[in-house]
Amino acid sequence: MKDYSLAPRVLVTGGAGFLGSHLCERLLADGAEVLCVDNFFTGTRANIRHLLGNPRFELLRHDVTFPLYVEVDQIYNLACPASPNHYQFDPVQTTKTSVIGAINLLGLAKRTKARILQASTSEVYGDPTMHPQPESYWGNVNPHGPRACYDEGKRCAETLFFDYHRQHKVDIRVIRIFNTYGARMHPNDGRVISNFIVQALLGRDLTIYGDGSQTRSFCFVDDLIDAMVRMMNRNHGLTGPVNVGNPAEMTVLELARTIVRYTGSRSGIVHCPAAHDDPKQRRPDISLAREKLGWEPKVDLETGLQRTIEYFRQMFDFPNVSAAVANWR
Ligand SMILES: NC(=O)c1ccc[n+]([C@@H]2O[C@H](COP(=O)([O-])OP(=O)(O)OC[C@H]3O[C@@H](n4cnc5c(N)ncnc54)[C@H](O)[C@@H]3O)[C@@H](O)[C@H]2O)c1
Repeated sequence: MKDYSLAPRVLVTGGAGFLGSHLCERLLADGAEVLCVDNFFTGTRANIRHLLGNPRFELLRHDVTFPLYVEVDQIYNLACPASPNHYQFDPVQTTKTSVIGAINLLGLAKRTKARILQASTSEVYGDPTMHPQPESYWGNVNPHGPRACYDEGKRCAETLFFDYHRQHKVDIRVIRIFNTYGARMHPNDGRVISNFIVQALLGRDLTIYGDGSQTRSFCFVDDLIDAMVRMMNRNHGLTGPVNVGNPAEMTVLELARTIVRYTGSRSGIVHCPAAHDDPKQRRPDISLAREKLGWEPKVDLETGLQRTIEYFRQMFDFPNVSAAVANWR
């Protein structure tokens, strides 16, 4: 059993990404020593530049598909491109990142007796036939469609986590993250909130795939990080999986209209053909997170969207905005 009264040495894989950079920030604020590991596929130094001067923060460029030998007490495994644009760019590498990455990090957890948390996803439910989705639902995933590299990779990673737990007694935590948004989302990642905000700020039409009646629920990043840290630090042996997200549901069309209003943009809304295997409904059942973690989201959509819009406004606060978005790294 680890002694968590000492400042834990925490490894965050994917630490230079959207969620990872917020997690590193939070862990440093809580007094941890943080080792951020990233291969910068979708993450960027800009996300963690403000942390580089902190003596308890260390950055390592490394690809999790290769073994890593370090001494740590806790591991948050976030490394994996999360948006369809990015994970479909090199689908074989996406599956490798989820599956071989999980094997490498579970091996590290086994050797160091570290507790390890997997950032799994609502995509393990695929296009759900049950609504909202409780953790007991096994999902409806197309195993060979263009999203399978991500969905099945994450499902296999969950399998590995539970097998390492049963077979090798590794102390695991699995959370299934539903759509999360906030500052440091990649402006080109094609995720619905960042897409709409960027389009609205650039005065371009907002593109909706399908008729816009598909529903989504959106969790603000601060709430999500809070749930993640709670899950890691609960000492009652809760392995999960635990759904984490905001159950407030809205249609994509409503979201587009809301963002046009909040940005004060003159953009219109256009419809494009629906994306392949795009789920029609997505909303978490968070009863388990409420009961076991004493957690529920606190930030409402208006507050979260205003803060996210402000981030993108500042990012675009220089003359050649379109080029900045196109070249963002
Ligand atoms: N943001 C969401 O709404 C959401 C929803 C469900 C699950 N998740 C999960 O949370 C995690 C973080 O997502 P995010 O939104 O921050 O995405 P992101 O793309 O911003 O971050 C992923 C990070 O992992 C890094 N990475 C990718 N492949 C790697 C590899 N082989 N080795 C080392 N680093 C690698 C990237 O460079 C990036 O910094 C992902 O595992 C994702 O599946 C996110």
